[in-house]
Amino acid sequence: MNSPILIGKDLAIHKQQVLAQDIAKFNLNTPPHLVVMIVGNDPASQLYVKTKQKRCAAVGILSTQLTFNNDVPQETLLASIQKHNDDPSTHGILVQLPLPKHIDTQAVIEAIVPSKDVDGFHPFNLGRLAQNSPLLRPCTPYGIMQLLQHYAIPIQGQHAVVLGKSTIVGLPMSLELLAAKATISICHRHTHDIMQYTRQADILITATGQPQMIRADHIKKGTIVIDVGITRLENGSIVGDVHFDSVKNKAGGITPVPGGVGPMTVTALLQNTWQAYISQQSQLCPKNQTHYSDLDGQ
Ligand code: GUN
Repeated sequence: MNSPILIGKDLAIHKQQVLAQDIAKFNLNTPPHLVVMIVGNDPASQLYVKTKQKRCAAVGILSTQLTFNNDVPQETLLASIQKHNDDPSTHGILVQLPLPKHIDTQAVIEAIVPSKDVDGFHPFNLGRLAQNSPLLRPCTPYGIMQLLQHYAIPIQGQHAVVLGKSTIVGLPMSLELLAAKATISICHRHTHDIMQYTRQADILITATGQPQMIRADHIKKGTIVIDVGITRLENGSIVGDVHFDSVKNKAGGITPVPGGVGPMTVTALLQNTWQAYISQQSQLCPKNQTHYSDLDGQ
């Protein structure tokens, strides 16, 4: 039996088209504006930022990239964040991670005003998610939840195993799944015998960055496997945390890399930016008006 491939890329295209229509409907003089800050010249980060900006343009979101040298003082970065916090023509602020070692990432995350925190990493937004009352939701987990929903994958009562506990993916992913009434196991580098957990998973979300570490014997038959990892091997090929060819025939569903989770992450960022804009321009949204038709807030 071939497992269904969960094609994030196709769903992302559809969701972005819906979003573009929603934004166009308003015929806005001032479009939503996302400011993306990048420190240093890490090629992978530059590529991610370029992709985000390209997709912004395609749906009608203005984006500005601010590039800082690798040795930028933390105060300079914080001052720029503060400037955009105070600027009403900036609706979303994203600081691409990881940051150089001399910068306190948590201080940067907390410097962004929660209403413009389109990454959803600020303690306020993570706290809202933890209390099952989310506002701006971390993009990768939010994108994955939309993918699971699109493929009608049951979550309630399922055992979801999350590999990784980062603020970007593992932790908010666990909170999302918990809010959707799954039973959660979170594994990380100090977990003994990870396979003991992965073999119990109805849903396995892996965000370890260990290329192709998950093989067929890590899962039971029918597991839904969501691969957040992305690594470029020395031979130039791009792979995830999952050994796709051996796992795909045993899994009940599996995301490819590339073309699975990545495009859904970008989609969620665009949705968050629109949502941030809407809530900052509340006069555009009379009560009870449906302002964005495809944000189903599951
Ligand atoms: N680096 C890798 N993923 C992300 C993300 O979702 N947001 C930010 N800001 N940086 C990242």
